[in-house]
Amino acid sequence: MIRYAAVSLLILAIFILTVSEARSVLKLPSEVADFFHPKGESNVAGDDDSVGTRWAVLLAGSSGYWNYRHQADVCHAYQVLKKGGVKDENIVVFMYDDIAYDFENPRPGVIINSPHGDDVYEGVPKDYTGEEVTAKNFLAAILGNKTAITGGTGKVVDSGPNDHIFIYYTDHGGPGVLGMPSGPYIYADDLIEVLKKKHASGTYKSLVFYLEACESGSIFEGLLPEGLNIYATTASNAEESSWGTYCPGEYPSPPPEYDTCLGDLYSVAWMEDSDIHNLQTETLKQQYHLVKKRTSNDNSGYGSHVMQYGDLKLSVEDLFLYMGTNPANDNYTFVDDNSIRPSSKAVNQRDADLLHFWEKFRKAPEGSVRKVEAQKQFVEAMSHRMHIDSSIKLIGKLLFGIEKGPEILETVRPAGQPLTDDWDCLKSLVRTFETRCGSLSQYGMKHMRSIANICNAGIKIEQMAEAAAQACVNLPSNSWSSLHRGFSA
Ligand SMILES: *[C@@H]1O[C@H](CO)[C@@H](O)[C@H](O)[C@H]1NC(C)=O
Ligand SMILES: *[C@@H]1O[C@H](CO)[C@@H](O)[C@H](O)[C@H]1NC(C)=O
Repeated sequence: MIRYAAVSLLILAIFILTVSEARSVLKLPSEVADFFHPKGESNVAGDDDSVGTRWAVLLAGSSGYWNYRHQADVCHAYQVLKKGGVKDENIVVFMYDDIAYDFENPRPGVIINSPHGDDVYEGVPKDYTGEEVTAKNFLAAILGNKTAITGGTGKVVDSGPNDHIFIYYTDHGGPGVLGMPSGPYIYADDLIEVLKKKHASGTYKSLVFYLEACESGSIFEGLLPEGLNIYATTASNAEESSWGTYCPGEYPSPPPEYDTCLGDLYSVAWMEDSDIHNLQTETLKQQYHLVKKRTSNDNSGYGSHVMQYGDLKLSVEDLFLYMGTNPANDNYTFVDDNSIRPSSKAVNQRDADLLHFWEKFRKAPEGSVRKVEAQKQFVEAMSHRMHIDSSIKLIGKLLFGIEKGPEILETVRPAGQPLTDDWDCLKSLVRTFETRCGSLSQYGMKHMRSIANICNAGIKIEQMAEAAAQACVNLPSNSWSSLHRGFSA
């Protein structure tokens, strides 16, 4: 019975892959990946007066055990800052906090961010957890506006003119958008607006933003001006996904009892570098180059292009200004080209959930409830993807015609230009789509550029509503429905 189920699962997966663009859909462990993709197609401090106070905001935008890595990244980032001497009262942490004690976690109460890594969960401040991890709270915390905060400890960046601020975000994203575990996503225009406001309030000397997400370059590209004293680096450019690492089936791989990725490629690159050096001797620029090299993974197809934005002149500053430095590393001066181990491959952010369901399915005993459950999760995730991909395509054709449709949806504006000039349109069309067709969800965020292009072509809400109604005759009723998930705009 279960064997039969496994075979039909495989057949379904093959079917789905045949009808959708194989390249962007799936990356599974080697044996399956080879089966699905012919070879060659794989893509698969202490305070001191001279620096003011160091502040940090750390945010993991996901929940769910299959997204283990984002919260692991954030916990690790906290440990880097803590060891550097940044005080808890100045570190604002946003994490859903459902990983450490998830029943799937083989080490209850422990979170690791690398295969042989120590626990990074211990001592992490729980400022905003669960439903408190919202775009609204995040933006209010950056602005230091306590009255705009709902729930949590109320900790915000209460900074002054000489202070240095470090913001680190890790999660799924899409063109112009960053995911959140609850409520609407963060749209690039709202984030940039908040950064401009923060600058106008004169409450920092300089600000560094490290951003891990798919298409993370699109958050700043053509949007973050110079002159705000902000230096940002992103895991990927505006058009590509970012990558999970320490995933099952990779080398180095997580301990065998983990069937989920432990970290993200760009994130562990900067943190493992910061872990081992005297940060008084390493500049932001040096770290950028090192992280860029490691994250590109020798252009192997399992990597992305790390980008920098904003006031690049700030990159001559030492990391110490933002992260402090661990006194135990005093004798470990930064030397260029240090040999942090490269990973053999990595898993596209968007496929890491499938990898988890697959591993779970593969390992579960024949005939077990667990096997059936994993199969269900895998199939639901796959059919949701197929549904979202095909409805977006169909909407494009309904709006612009059979030939023009795909062309318009796939247009990419030239480098240096933002995704769209009308963010309100993007948000309302996303809502219109989700009302009819269900939640875009983590995977569907990749279609933000298509929806932005629909705005850029001058389509109005009513036209979009009509096309979506034709494309999606029934609202999906499964767990991906916007009835359960809410809206991403
Ligand atoms: C803080 O947030 C509140 C509530 O959203 C708003 O009314 C107020 O204007 C904000 N204050 C500042 C200084 O932006
Ligand atoms: C660094 O080196 C000096 C001189 O060898 C030594 O005295 C000191 O203990 C070392 N510091 C650390 C943290 O290892």
